[in-house]
Amino acid sequence: MSDSLDAVLAHLDATHDAQIERLFNLLRIPSVSTDSAHDGDVHRAAEFCSDLLTASGFNSSVRNTTGHPMVVGHVDGPANAPHVLYYGHYDVQPPDPLDLWRSPPFEPVLVDGKNGPQIVARGAADDKGQLMMFVEALRAWNEVGGGIPVRATVLLEGEEESGSPSLDPFLEANADELRPDVCIVSDTGMWDPTTPAITTMLRGMVYLEVTLHGPSHDLHSGMYGGAVVNPLNELTRILGNLHDADGRIAVKGFYDGVIEPTDAQLAEWKGLGFDESGFLAEAGLDVSTGEAGHSVLERIWSRPTLDINGLFGGYTGEGAKTVIAAEASAKFSCRLVPGQDPAAVETALISHLNAALPAGCRWTIVSHGCNPAIQVPSKSPWLELAQHGLERIWNQRAVLVGCGGSIPVVGSFQTILGADSLLIGFGLDDDRVHSPNEKFDVASYRGGTRSHAAVLAVLAESERT
Ligand code: BES
Ligand code: ZN
Repeated sequence: MSDSLDAVLAHLDATHDAQIERLFNLLRIPSVSTDSAHDGDVHRAAEFCSDLLTASGFNSSVRNTTGHPMVVGHVDGPANAPHVLYYGHYDVQPPDPLDLWRSPPFEPVLVDGKNGPQIVARGAADDKGQLMMFVEALRAWNEVGGGIPVRATVLLEGEEESGSPSLDPFLEANADELRPDVCIVSDTGMWDPTTPAITTMLRGMVYLEVTLHGPSHDLHSGMYGGAVVNPLNELTRILGNLHDADGRIAVKGFYDGVIEPTDAQLAEWKGLGFDESGFLAEAGLDVSTGEAGHSVLERIWSRPTLDINGLFGGYTGEGAKTVIAAEASAKFSCRLVPGQDPAAVETALISHLNAALPAGCRWTIVSHGCNPAIQVPSKSPWLELAQHGLERIWNQRAVLVGCGGSIPVVGSFQTILGADSLLIGFGLDDDRVHSPNEKFDVASYRGGTRSHAAVLAVLAESERT
């Protein structure tokens, strides 16, 4: 197996340029899942990924759902080899605001960065660059490693960035076909450019869009101002009071059930030597803001939050317009931690908004999804095998980390397929995911591809239990 891995790694090096070209072709497809204007592009990206899997030795197809399609590919692998389910998502976040991109978001380019060349495009790191790493590792095993050495299933989703509405029904309907021994999810980050990481905690989410309706139509602010309700004034006051002076969320029941990290966990996180000022500098800041009494890592990994993601209404064009807008809207989301019940948090938020309803107004409230925080075992034979594979490439063990983001599929794999995931990703904090000028370092891409190839070798050596 070691000889085969050497051949696979050499092949990956030799075919690097062709891999980057394939990734660029995927990045050129604007598969923005939340925007129905891009439905055709999302479908095109699914077909593109399925063709890549076919070219990598898989029996692959695009599978329709009531939303965007799934791509599923299978390879039987040798008898008794473990069944590994690889997951990635081929959809991306909207590229807005467009004017802040230095090059068009769907025209990938290579630019020089502090760790060498970087691929700049929407989806470069989240998640097209990451899914292509395991697809290319599998392809290389197929081409020069004597065949893919495990029973492999690849599942690529097209709705991850818009709440995964079709995922659970799809997993439920196809559980027997998909159920693996272990899942590998490549959608997270490294600790730093030379230290691999395995993520064992993800935050959950509740996302609401609210509109406060007041007058029946827009009003002259001189004729009516001071005498009638202004939905923008009221909405911003209500939103402004959602946090108290200590940065805690002032909603009754919000913190119910929150499980605090153990002392051992906190000590482990302290021992990681987090570069707080570097992390903040990447965001153009020199100070952290948040819940009093918690470190930056705790604030991101183990504390729940509430953030306004968008606020709109009234006149936003050029110059001044003296108007009281009939309605005001906001989108906001909460990141949840272990112990919180997403449905209960959503109910608590809605009760809070209803109790705060100003006279003469009414709410429209739309939920954009609810999913719990997730923990995967930080000790398991699978994780130990992955550690060996990663060590082979990076010459050190991966650190175990939390992640402030959400990847709902990991919870669905646990509950529907009964399988845990190894969250092995190669993004970096400065990748600007969800932001203009998203990038993925070529060094991360190369290290990640080699890592997937090596982890595959180690998993293949483990007999199915
Ligand atoms: N890849 C991210 C999750 C992530 C974020 C990992 C930051 C590491 C660092 C994932 O694609 C994502 O953005 N998920 C959404 C899920 C949501 C729409 C339910 C998120 O976290 O906002
Ligand atoms: Zn992602």
